[in-house]
Amino acid sequence: MNILRRGRLTIEPDEDVMRFTSSMEADKRIFDADIEVDKAHVVMLKEQSIIAEEDCSAILRGLDIIQKEGITALDASYEDVHIALEAKLIGIAGEDTGGRMHSGRSRNDEVAACIRLALREELINLMEEVSDLVMTLVNNATKHHETIMPGYTHTQHAQPTTLAHHLLAHASAFLRDLSRIRGAYWRTNMNPLGAAAFASTGFPLNRRRTAELLGFDAVMENSMDAVGTRDFMIEAIGTFSNLMTNLGRLAEELILWSSSEFDFIELDDRYSSTSSIMPQKKNPDIAELMRAKTGTVHGALMSVLTICKALPYSYNRDLQEATPHLWRAADAVRASTRMATGMVSTMKIKKENMKRASSEGFMTATELADTIVRKTNTPFRTAHHIVGAIAKTGKTPTLSDLDELASDIIKEKLSDKGLTEKDVREALEPKANIKKRTVTGGPAPKETKRQIKVIKKILAVHQKEINVIRKNLDRAKEKLDRATTSQ
Ligand code: ARG
Repeated sequence: MNILRRGRLTIEPDEDVMRFTSSMEADKRIFDADIEVDKAHVVMLKEQSIIAEEDCSAILRGLDIIQKEGITALDASYEDVHIALEAKLIGIAGEDTGGRMHSGRSRNDEVAACIRLALREELINLMEEVSDLVMTLVNNATKHHETIMPGYTHTQHAQPTTLAHHLLAHASAFLRDLSRIRGAYWRTNMNPLGAAAFASTGFPLNRRRTAELLGFDAVMENSMDAVGTRDFMIEAIGTFSNLMTNLGRLAEELILWSSSEFDFIELDDRYSSTSSIMPQKKNPDIAELMRAKTGTVHGALMSVLTICKALPYSYNRDLQEATPHLWRAADAVRASTRMATGMVSTMKIKKENMKRASSEGFMTATELADTIVRKTNTPFRTAHHIVGAIAKTGKTPTLSDLDELASDIIKEKLSDKGLTEKDVREALEPKANIKKRTVTGGPAPKETKRQIKVIKKILAVHQKEINVIRKNLDRAKEKLDRATTSQ
């Protein structure tokens, strides 16, 4: 007889109802976490003299067997992994022993703890993956401080820049994503255990001890909040969404740049597909899927936000429906990050084509206007007027062209005010344009080299933090291992 339903309920749900209710499929993601949570809880129960030493060791031995056999050995007719696992344990150790594991606990604090453990693993792995992506962009940028390319606004040629500057723009965005994920980790890695159903328990539990054994950084203060909230999940998917938006923009550019119209890069064969009918095709399918997965992750965020909206406190079964969206989003964002790293590190860069494109579209117009301002003390708006009028003619301006227009517009020749042919020529030279942009954050090689140094420094701080987190988690694992083997 079903250990959960046998007391209060008499009629069994039919298969359709069971399938509707069960979380077994998604619970695959928290099976290992559930074993750890069970072990930590049971060790703490024994230490607090809530259960006897022999019961503790028998339960731990049973949990080891269940862990080895895996989730597939559990009775799938139960509604979730927690109760199926407990039923299995009772089958192994007997109810007089196995039936004591759930003292002072509810599936509500249990599942919250499991999700937090499994999610923190995703978050720390993602931190590593994003850090790899930033490093890959930086390494690529190192080779392209002098690689001139068009910079765009409105997808129109705007001003010349360098590939290093462009790649570092993406790197800067991913660096912020990294720190957002770190923030989400901090609010995820907290202990809800001990909250029980929501009102805690009369058993003298030691919540700090389970936190210690599971590597949680803190105990959740309010037991109703501990079981009722999924805001950590929303925050995590929020950071995934932001990261996916940034990845989607990178994907879009890789797609555009590999088109015949741009022809700036060629993606590696590993990250390309071909057509079943058009033999010549080399398609950027991986980048396209990366762009599409942005929708998957944003959809997950909307789902979880909407599921949690207006839920009365504390636990409601609605929360179960949120969890699979989290895993779907985590899978999509982690895989997309790895694909981005792979594409960026293997793509072939067509420097010559970038350079050629940089001489089209009069991208040096701003520098020409600025030069007029600097050399002739003309107000910028007036210089903008003169150069705009030149751009309209479609020809590369000479000093006399400028003088002619200036005579019309300001009734003065710019050459009379100090502008020389050499000034005009230099202003029209993309390379010279870039060299001048030494302002903090600009594309001048000197400046992009400085930006790389800063990014590397920030990255090193993150890497250190990741190492500290991993060390703390390893230490907690050892503690739990020691506590369970000493039984
Ligand atoms: N499978 C459930 C979930 O994911 C576990 C908690 C069930 N709690 C309950 N009161 N029915 O949320």
